[in-house]
Amino acid sequence: MINSQSIKQTYDRFSSLYDLIFKPWLEFGRQRAIELLAPRSGARVLEIGVGTGLSLEYYPPDIEVLGFDYSFGMLRESQLKAKEMSHCPVSLMQMDAQNMAFADNSFDYLMAAYVLTVVPDPRKAVREIFRVARPGAKVVIINYICSNNRLMSIIEDIFHPVFASLGLFTLKHDLPGLLKQYGAKNIKIEPTSFLNLHHIVSFTVPA
Ligand SMILES: C[S@@+](CC[C@H](N)C(=O)[O-])C[C@H]1O[C@@H](n2cnc3c(N)ncnc32)[C@H](O)[C@@H]1O
Repeated sequence: MINSQSIKQTYDRFSSLYDLIFKPWLEFGRQRAIELLAPRSGARVLEIGVGTGLSLEYYPPDIEVLGFDYSFGMLRESQLKAKEMSHCPVSLMQMDAQNMAFADNSFDYLMAAYVLTVVPDPRKAVREIFRVARPGAKVVIINYICSNNRLMSIIEDIFHPVFASLGLFTLKHDLPGLLKQYGAKNIKIEPTSFLNLHHIVSFTVPA
């Protein structure tokens, strides 16, 4: 059984190699996600699972970013990016996306890139997003979404146990279905990343 601790250890171990391996093929979505988030001037954005901070350079200068991650190794890398590449003030902290230490209705803008399929219980993380978001908040998530295509679905069934048992990610994740259960409004989905394997999902939290 994959738990947060083993995921943390995995990311702690390869945090210094993460950019080398993942920056090239997961790079496409981050800038577009922040364009879609479009935080208003003076806003505070919550970035969930900020990782090594590859998104930080894309935020506009007139906002503030609060980013968290479960892995201290990844946070160490994001501290460097916050200093060297970010145009806006950035605060970073260690936290579990499944159990956020924020009060209800705290944020107007939330972003999570390539994170929800990695946490052991994505349902809990989604529940937390809706809890800490204010009514009407804008949320943008980049994620793998399980396919409607029959062949892809068979491939997912084959590879899912392998990836899941390695603690890498889940391939059986119906994110739009889950968001609808929470009443997400204006759900928009656009493909991104290498071979369009991932999607940018944006939506508004119900009032
Ligand atoms: C694939 S990386 C994505 C990082 C970054 N968002 C990006 O765009 O490169 C997944 C990140 O989720 C973090 N993570 C995994 N489980 C988490 C949890 N339960 N709470 C917070 N972060 C978590 C990992 O430590 C890692 O930094």
